[in-house]
Amino acid sequence: MSSPTTDSVPAAPDALVARLFDASIAAMDLFSVYLGDRLGYYRALADGGPATSDALATRTGTAERYAREWLEQQAVTGILAVDNAAAEAGARCYRLPDGYAAVLVDPDSLSAMSPLAQIMAGCVAPLPALLAAYRSGGGVPYEDYGADLAEGQAGISRPQFRHLLAQEWLPAMPDVHARLQHADPPARVADVGMGLGRSSIAIAAAYPSVRVDGFDLDTASVAAARANAEAEGMADRVRFHVKDAGDADLAGRYDFALAVECVHDMSDPVSVLAAMRRLVGEGGPVLIVDEKVADAFTAPGDDVERWMYGFSILHCLPVGMVEQPSAATGTVMRRDTLRRYAAEAGYRSVDEVPIEHDFFRFYRLTA
Ligand SMILES: C[S@@+](CC[C@H](N)C(=O)[O-])C[C@H]1O[C@@H](n2cnc3c(N)ncnc32)[C@H](O)[C@@H]1O
Repeated sequence: MSSPTTDSVPAAPDALVARLFDASIAAMDLFSVYLGDRLGYYRALADGGPATSDALATRTGTAERYAREWLEQQAVTGILAVDNAAAEAGARCYRLPDGYAAVLVDPDSLSAMSPLAQIMAGCVAPLPALLAAYRSGGGVPYEDYGADLAEGQAGISRPQFRHLLAQEWLPAMPDVHARLQHADPPARVADVGMGLGRSSIAIAAAYPSVRVDGFDLDTASVAAARANAEAEGMADRVRFHVKDAGDADLAGRYDFALAVECVHDMSDPVSVLAAMRRLVGEGGPVLIVDEKVADAFTAPGDDVERWMYGFSILHCLPVGMVEQPSAATGTVMRRDTLRRYAAEAGYRSVDEVPIEHDFFRFYRLTA
């Protein structure tokens, strides 16, 4: 039997050189997608069809020289197609390959990947503060990551909330689904750490009599969530509050409480889970959607584990370290950890709702 040390010995130095070189290209691909998304280049190509650099610059109100360099990079790296590569630079015509709009342009597509580029840009926005936090043991405030982090997160979540939350996830808890459908009296839902509010809006859209209150610490996210609810015509049934969900004064009587991808970010997850328990009362349903990480540390890890640890070192652990003392959970919140938090928060049981998902685990907590 090989020793654990032998099992986790990394590859040879030459392989690392090659791997990091590839990673630098991959990182630049990702940030090129960030530019293409934020500047409206992909949308202009999707809506207006193939374009020269001059046409793309005109359509998007950007500078031709930059548009040309970006188009060339996109063709060279194999994201855009160029129909006449041998033509003079300004005459080359670039297009979005068939099917790529679902990946790069459509915000409701389950294949959307532009939000991933945006969240990565957000993750590295406060690098100097991140270095300082590693040295001091402090944290990096959520707002320091800026709109790219919050919008990127919301962009990743949005298609899932729109297509899966009320269609698969909630119906997988038949009692919750039935209560939300029941109009008299209308059900009340508490959505904790709802960010830009897309989960609350999706629930209200799917269950026409439900009223949702969303609670989030981040003022900018709450303002954006309110604007989203307004734009979707849901502002009468969906309310958002700037609130630490762990505050002892969080009050109300709810039929269902959920927290999606946020418990691992919280400095005091036990207080928040306890508050959610109080909101739904004894036996009331609480759903925690969080990362589907392995049960134990394993090195090397699979892609999900690598991805989650990546977010943890750049964002989730540092935001959770702002308030001290902190549970200092990080993205890699293992089953055992959530079970311990739930027990400390006064829940009797934690059951996993049988929903297939590559990245999420669905914990149902009962008090
Ligand atoms: C990764 S985002 C998830 C947002 C959203 N639920 C989603 O899935 O897209 C985490 C959110 O939790 C919020 N948050 C963290 N700690 C909180 C707390 N104690 N009370 C309320 N919100 C909190 C952050 O402000 C942030 O909006």
